[in-house]
Amino acid sequence: MITLGIETSCDETAAAILRDGAALSAVVSSHWLHTKYGGVVPELASRAHIKLLAPIIEQALSSAGIGIDELDAVAVTRGPGLIGALLVGISMAKAIAYARRIPVLGINHLEGHLWSATFAGDDLQPPFLALLVSGGHTMLVGVRAFGDYRLIGQTRDDAAGEAFDKVGVLCGLGYPAGAEVENQAQEGDASYHAFPVGMKGQKEYDFSFSGLKTAVANFSRKNPDAVEKHRKDVLACFQEAAVDSLVLPTIRAMEDFGYSTLVISGGVAANQRLRNRLNEEVGKRDGKFISPDIEYCTDNATMIAWAGWKRLQAGERDGLDMSGDANFPIPGLTKI
Ligand code: KG4
Ligand code: ZN
Repeated sequence: MITLGIETSCDETAAAILRDGAALSAVVSSHWLHTKYGGVVPELASRAHIKLLAPIIEQALSSAGIGIDELDAVAVTRGPGLIGALLVGISMAKAIAYARRIPVLGINHLEGHLWSATFAGDDLQPPFLALLVSGGHTMLVGVRAFGDYRLIGQTRDDAAGEAFDKVGVLCGLGYPAGAEVENQAQEGDASYHAFPVGMKGQKEYDFSFSGLKTAVANFSRKNPDAVEKHRKDVLACFQEAAVDSLVLPTIRAMEDFGYSTLVISGGVAANQRLRNRLNEEVGKRDGKFISPDIEYCTDNATMIAWAGWKRLQAGERDGLDMSGDANFPIPGLTKI
């Protein structure tokens, strides 16, 4: 079974070819044009997808050595995401499905992220706990089987990546700032100032980053020299508080719900400090920590093709009337 996956939910245009569960090719193009605006401009993202998508699909097909007539199905991100951006991918997927008379499947972007570790080559058997930390989402999901998910916790305000980006931009870095915040924080003194850890002391398993973001903004307003002279220290302190706000509820959820495996995904999963802390805490509890290579953690089309292949095996397919849904809920997700 050969599946084409298409991902256009935000500012990455991506296509991938999968033979059964194995990746034959994957192409991703990130739109750096948003940098100068300090965030993703939806209309510009849609236009970039229109320009990039066809050549990227052609490239994915040719590096897999597959002709378009050999495709058995097309899987495409249906949501969540920017509606205009989603529609570009969905229109392309439906056109290919119609022309080739093959099934089209609308996939939830977050469900793709949850399973990233499987096609990254890790031996991942449910049940496991998944921490999804990206620029748009921060959630803790108990995965019991494909299509059977429990929402254990989520952010009450900003996503973790959004907090890294906003604080980075506030400290003079370019968007997206997450990776550069980490670079600078590595050389900073994390004991310079204590920023608040969101949701500390809660009974639930939620996350919050807006208080931390405001605290950094207030600190830099009151101490304008600090950001100039101590930028690395300020960023190290921010990163420490942000990492704590992710680690504490996650480890508590592992203990309370009896999960022995933790998987991370999403762009913020690239953060080495976060990986190290989770690895340490999970190790102390004799658990297994799985952190896929970063190319599988960030937005990609392999995860979409993989989820499409799973759904197809379960006998599912969508009609050509399938459309984008900016708030598409994860199928099979229930609250604890
Ligand atoms: O999953 P992703 O590629 O896109 C979506 O948001 O869906 O995640 C991008 C986010 C951005 O906010 C970026 O700043 C953040 O991941 N990020 C990081 C790091 N690398 C990327 N945040 C913290 N540390 C990093 N090393
Ligand atoms: Zn994503």
